[in-house]
Amino acid sequence: MRELTRRDWLKGTSSLAAAGLAYATSAQAQSVTLKGYTPTKENPIRMSANENPYGVARAAHKAMAGAYDVSHLYGGSGRRELLKLYADMNGVTPENILLASGSKEVLKVMALITELNGGKVMAANPTYHDLVRYSEWVGTDIIWVEVKKDDMSIDLDAMRAAYTDDVKIIYLCNPNNPIPTIIEKKALQEFVMEMSQKCIVFVDEAYHEYVTDSNYGSMAQVAATTDNVIVSRTASKIHGFAGVRVGFAIAKPELLRKINRRVTGTVATPSVHGALASYKDKEFMDFVIQKNKEGLEEVYKVFEKHKVRHFKSNANFTFFETGIDFAEVRDRFLKHGINVGRPFPPFLDWARVSIQKPEDMKYFAEVYEKEFVS
Ligand SMILES: Cc1ncc(COP(=O)(O)O)c(C=O)c1O
Repeated sequence: MRELTRRDWLKGTSSLAAAGLAYATSAQAQSVTLKGYTPTKENPIRMSANENPYGVARAAHKAMAGAYDVSHLYGGSGRRELLKLYADMNGVTPENILLASGSKEVLKVMALITELNGGKVMAANPTYHDLVRYSEWVGTDIIWVEVKKDDMSIDLDAMRAAYTDDVKIIYLCNPNNPIPTIIEKKALQEFVMEMSQKCIVFVDEAYHEYVTDSNYGSMAQVAATTDNVIVSRTASKIHGFAGVRVGFAIAKPELLRKINRRVTGTVATPSVHGALASYKDKEFMDFVIQKNKEGLEEVYKVFEKHKVRHFKSNANFTFFETGIDFAEVRDRFLKHGINVGRPFPPFLDWARVSIQKPEDMKYFAEVYEKEFVS
C-alpha cells in the first residue's frame, strides 16, 4: 500500500485525489485503472454487488491495523465511542443503536423474530432480498406488493390495502434496491406512524449516504422514538466495509433488546475501530460520493444518447431497460469482462449495474454501445 507522505500533500493532492490515492487505500478492485489488468470473463469488473471500488479509507485502514493490539481481549474496545459517534450523527441516543456484523444480521434476526412470533412478512416486489429470503427459508409466508406501474416506486397505498392482521412486519427498502427510487418523506412518515400501530415497520436505509433527492427523509429519529419502528444502516457501501462487517439498527431500546438476545455474531474489534475512523472521515465520504456521481454520469450519458429507460439513482447502482432476457444481457456483458449480476423478477428485461470508478463506467458505456446498439 502506498503511504501518503507530507511531500505528496505539499506537491498538491489533485492527481492523487483523481486516482483515489489521497483518500482510499489501494483496493484490490478489478478496474481498468489498474496497471496490467484486462477485464475478462474469468476475472470481470464487479458491477454486480454495489461495492465501493475505492476500498476502505486510509484512516480506517490504519485504525484497523492498530486495533490488533487490543484484539486478544473480550469486551469490545471502541464500541461505546462508536455508538456515541453514530448516535450524535443521527440525532438519537446511544441506547437507540445496536451494532451488528453488517445490516444483514439485523435483517435476518428480524425475520427470525417474525417467524418465532408466528406471522407474515410484507414486502415490495422487487426489493432487497435478505429479510424476505431468510423468512422464506424459515417458513414464513410473504405478501408481495408490486411496485407502482408508472414510476416503479414502492406502493404504500397498495401495501395498506394488502395488509391483513397476520402481517407482523413490513419491510421497506429506502432507497429501494434494485430500483433506486425513494419514498417521499411525508408519505413515508405517515405510513410508518400508521402501520406501526399494527405491526413492525422496518426501513432499510443501506444507501442513505448517497441520496441526493430532497424528497427523501431518514426514519432514524422516528425509529428512536416510536414503538415498532426499526431502521437499518450499513458501513458496507459508502465506507467500503462489505468485508469488514459493520451495520447498525436504530430503534427504541426495547426492540433492540429483543434483537440483541438473538444475534449470534459480534462485531470484531478492528472493525469497530475502522468504523470509528471512517465515520469521522468526511473527506473520504465526500470523495466516494463525488466519484459515484461521476460514474453515474457516464452511464446516464450513454443511456440518454440511446434513449434507454433508466433511473436517476439515489444509490451506487442504477436499473435500466434492456428489452431482452437478463441471461442474454449477462452473457453479452461478461464476454467483455463486466459482471452485471443477477436477474430481478418480474423485471427480467431490465438489469442493475453497480457504479464502479468513472473510468470503468466509461468502459461499461463502450461495451453497451458495442453490444446493444445496432
Ligand atoms: C438494501 C440493502 N440492505 C442491506 C444490505 C446488506 O448490507 P450489509 O453488508 O450491511 O450486510 C445490502 C447489500 O447490498 C443492501 O443492498
